[in-house]
Amino acid sequence: MASTSYPAQQHAIKTFTKLVELLPEVEQNKPQIVLLAGEVTPFRNDTDREMPFRQESNFFYLSGCRVPASYLLLAYQNGTSLANQPSSHLFIPKAELADIMWSVPPPSLEEATATHDVTRIDHPTALADFIQELIKAFPGALVHTLPSSPLFPTIPSQYTAAFLAGDVKVTEDYLLAALHRARLVKDAEEIALIRRANEISSRAHEVVMRVLGQGVRGLIKRGKGAGTNRPLLPGEWLVQKEAEAEALFVASCRREGAEHQAYLPIVAASTRASTLHYCCNDREFAWGPVGPQDHQNCNEFAHDHQRDLHPQVLLIDAGCEWKCYAADITRTMPVGNGGKFTPEARAIYELVLEMQRLSFEALKPGLHWDTIQLICHRTLVRGFQKLGIFKSSTSPNSGSWNSEEAILASGVGAAFFPHGVGHSLGMDVHDVPSASKPLQNDTIKGIPLGHESFYTYLRLRLPLEEGMVVTVEPGCYFSPHLIAPVRDSKHIDQEVLKRYESVGGVRIEDVVLITKDGYENLTTVRSDTEWVEKVCSGEI
Ligand code: GLY
Ligand code: MN
Ligand code: MN
Repeated sequence: MASTSYPAQQHAIKTFTKLVELLPEVEQNKPQIVLLAGEVTPFRNDTDREMPFRQESNFFYLSGCRVPASYLLLAYQNGTSLANQPSSHLFIPKAELADIMWSVPPPSLEEATATHDVTRIDHPTALADFIQELIKAFPGALVHTLPSSPLFPTIPSQYTAAFLAGDVKVTEDYLLAALHRARLVKDAEEIALIRRANEISSRAHEVVMRVLGQGVRGLIKRGKGAGTNRPLLPGEWLVQKEAEAEALFVASCRREGAEHQAYLPIVAASTRASTLHYCCNDREFAWGPVGPQDHQNCNEFAHDHQRDLHPQVLLIDAGCEWKCYAADITRTMPVGNGGKFTPEARAIYELVLEMQRLSFEALKPGLHWDTIQLICHRTLVRGFQKLGIFKSSTSPNSGSWNSEEAILASGVGAAFFPHGVGHSLGMDVHDVPSASKPLQNDTIKGIPLGHESFYTYLRLRLPLEEGMVVTVEPGCYFSPHLIAPVRDSKHIDQEVLKRYESVGGVRIEDVVLITKDGYENLTTVRSDTEWVEKVCSGEI
């Protein structure tokens, strides 16, 4: 019995159950075979050096194996003993002398057997013979593979050809959909891995905030000789650039053992926070007056100690991966202004917090995710009316042109909250796309939708189920590109909007588990305004 706690065989049973549901009835009682190739180690050109290896998610789900260049062969038959215990045969490469000399060899078969929840392990040299055995043992079987696509490792043609020559049918039409359906609801072992990724990433967000706070209090001093005779040591650099904040975040995750980030961090200061997936992370914080979505922000003034940082936000959307499972967390923090938000930034921050709080309150199994999207849009309209960015109705008639309902129905709010409120999260950050969005959204009938544009980028369009893990990530942005088409909207008070545009953007994102009665927040770093300001100003 393997000592691993990763339940690969349970995952195989769940996947085959979903697979059989997807098959035409005539195929359902046939033997089902799955052949998967694992990811191979990528190498960088002319360096003889590996690039980071990351196992293909579906391969890991069914094998728990993170050994490069492995294969997996599964067999199942509905209504037989194989339905309770599919055969699950893993093939891992044999250690070659060159592997040992240059790098770390794969585990031996004995070591791998002790740590993988599969029925048998061999070397890939045995794969061709086992394929022939399966063809003989299961005539008429359906052989499932993942789609031929650059997204998935290629199965060498010798193996597919062996199947094609036998009395079996090879298809790539069902397996990916079955895997996505199986992966949508997480089990306890998967939740433990997501929890760990979230705890590590939460601490990394707090580290960045605390270093910012130390800088505000003048507690970060260049060491003697630093910058001339020797480089700056950790604790000696002020965070004054996006790259410095990113480096701290990644360092904190790495020192806790996380190998990878789950996605490239998004670290956007000032009005660059209005770019949803900003990818440069290469600018100084703003040291002078800031124009909307200004990518320059007066870099020449940076590190000029005569000047104060311009009050601005720093948006960090980043999360590490723990054993193939992701975190996805966004925090928006104040920079400049002594580590406190400006009144405008605080108002927008608290509005986004309110969007998230009301979403949390509604979460429970059975609730359609579209409803959460609408809650956020309604909250945004209410908040903008309170701030005066949207004009308010003085008429008691709820049908007036500038009532909350009328503004919602106009869709103008999508210019300020253009994305979906969240998505399923698991091994992949935008997990199981094919199972997250039905082609036809019948389940939503009867629920008021607001405006169809609210749902354009919503990646999850299902009722929630216990065991799903989702992000809740409302935001509010002032992007000139998104505002341009609604600039002349009768709902907007132009003078008031101008005051808020330099805030750039705020997003707050936590990862939550849907439980029997509600939800559990797996993200542990706090986001309430008082705590964020106290940490970023060095008060606590
Ligand atoms: N980090 C990407 C997202 O939040 O969806
Ligand atoms: Mn997200
Ligand atoms: Mn994110």
